Amino acid sequence: MENSFAIVPDVKKITSNSSVFSVSSQTKVFADNSSSLPAAILLAHYIQNITTLALPIREGESVTPQDILLSTENSENVLDQNGFTDETYTLSIDDSGCHLSALYPMGLFRGVQVLRQLLSTHSTNLPGCHIEDSPRFRWRGVHLDVSRHFFDEETVCRFIDAAAYHRLNVVHLHLTDDQGWRMPIDAFPRLTSVASKRECTVLGHQHTRPRTYNDQPHEGFYTKEQIQNIVEFAAQRGVHILPEIDMPGHMQAAITAYPEWGCTQEKPGVRCSWGISQHILNPNESTMKAMETILDEVMELFPWTFIHIGGDEAHKYQWDESREVQERMAELGATSEEELQSRFIARMANHVASRGRKAIGWDEILEGGLAENASVMSWRGEEGGIEAAKKGHDVVMAPMQSTYFDHYQGSPETEPLGIGGLTTLEKAYMYNPLPQSLSPEESRFVMGTQAQLWTEYIPNSNHLDYMTYPRLCAFAEAAWRESEKVDYPAFLERMQIHKKRMEELGIQFAPIPTTT
Ligand code: ACM
Repeated sequence: MENSFAIVPDVKKITSNSSVFSVSSQTKVFADNSSSLPAAILLAHYIQNITTLALPIREGESVTPQDILLSTENSENVLDQNGFTDETYTLSIDDSGCHLSALYPMGLFRGVQVLRQLLSTHSTNLPGCHIEDSPRFRWRGVHLDVSRHFFDEETVCRFIDAAAYHRLNVVHLHLTDDQGWRMPIDAFPRLTSVASKRECTVLGHQHTRPRTYNDQPHEGFYTKEQIQNIVEFAAQRGVHILPEIDMPGHMQAAITAYPEWGCTQEKPGVRCSWGISQHILNPNESTMKAMETILDEVMELFPWTFIHIGGDEAHKYQWDESREVQERMAELGATSEEELQSRFIARMANHVASRGRKAIGWDEILEGGLAENASVMSWRGEEGGIEAAKKGHDVVMAPMQSTYFDHYQGSPETEPLGIGGLTTLEKAYMYNPLPQSLSPEESRFVMGTQAQLWTEYIPNSNHLDYMTYPRLCAFAEAAWRESEKVDYPAFLERMQIHKKRMEELGIQFAPIPTTT
């Protein structure tokens, strides 16, 4: 019976009752105080989208049974050391009205999305229920690569809104890579005038030989105003934006704009093919200072605690070959290129920490010794995350085997061209972000989990939807539910109803397997 509410991700506890709450032109949306208002405004916005009713919003608690009340036990969010707040909320729909309450204002945003799902299915006649809910993990993220293909502000906001619909709370924007730099930096204007544009793009799969290219330039970057809009749009939904500046590898576009940051003085051109570039930052003092300046400007625009500094797939060939870099290694007392990368990352992590923020990087940052104050995003499996958690560092589990949605979701014979791999809906659903090998004490360092949308083979927003959904629905369950609540057939059943809601939002789904 409760499965018929078809809430995705499923809620912790739900009971139904025989009441029906009618949303009508007489209904008002009440916020008990000013800190509940943003969630009330968001709810009224969704109600208008779904029912066309423009309901008045009021502050106060003197409600009648035909009103909706949003209230919190604590009027201010209390942040943990990582910038997260407890998201516990309760939703009661019964003869006394519709009451959404939360421990802290942040929890209201999660309950609003549940109400939105019920409105989408039942329109103005909400079914009686009592829901008690809270997430298992505090970090429930989704990543979007806007470098390989640029997605405009509208598409990014739509992506954020759909993530929020699934009670996810972190959207990671991969803003820079070999194939394009996507944000303005006042100190280095060529990052947008030069590095945001590539002249061509490889056709078909990167591994196809002979390799061929189109001759269409691909370009784009967000203005500061657009970034502020994106951050604000996310904040209005209780979503944090995690910006990534990937270094010291994945920097070919930036090195094209500023060849002095590289190791060869070459101007390589913004990369037109996928795969990993050999171009890597020169770890000399002036390049490190430039990166700190960039991070300062990033921190001005992105207010959340965490800043992603990349660290993945940095080929060390140019470091091996460069006399200057070898001398720099000796000067820093690093005995290997991996250790040199660690020094580089540690310097950036310290810089971020000196501004009261936290740096997170891909698991390669463990290789030459993990910087004291860096957190780890574990993508090559869970091993890096396990190692970091055992060392007392915060981690996000993002193993490619279960959370990379650029992978195929079905047979490559019938699916559109993808990068490779196979991450089925069921695999995404079954994922348990907490490895058994961690003790309860160590498990506390697992902040949560994240899904990844790398976009080499995702050229437009329709295809982005196709690769994201339905797998992100399954991922959201894995991130939200308690580990014992695994029931794939029940999930598939709920998805039949949920899919219609997503289609109403204009989101194109890949086919949902009907059997397990
Ligand atoms: C990655 O997939 N290179 C983090």
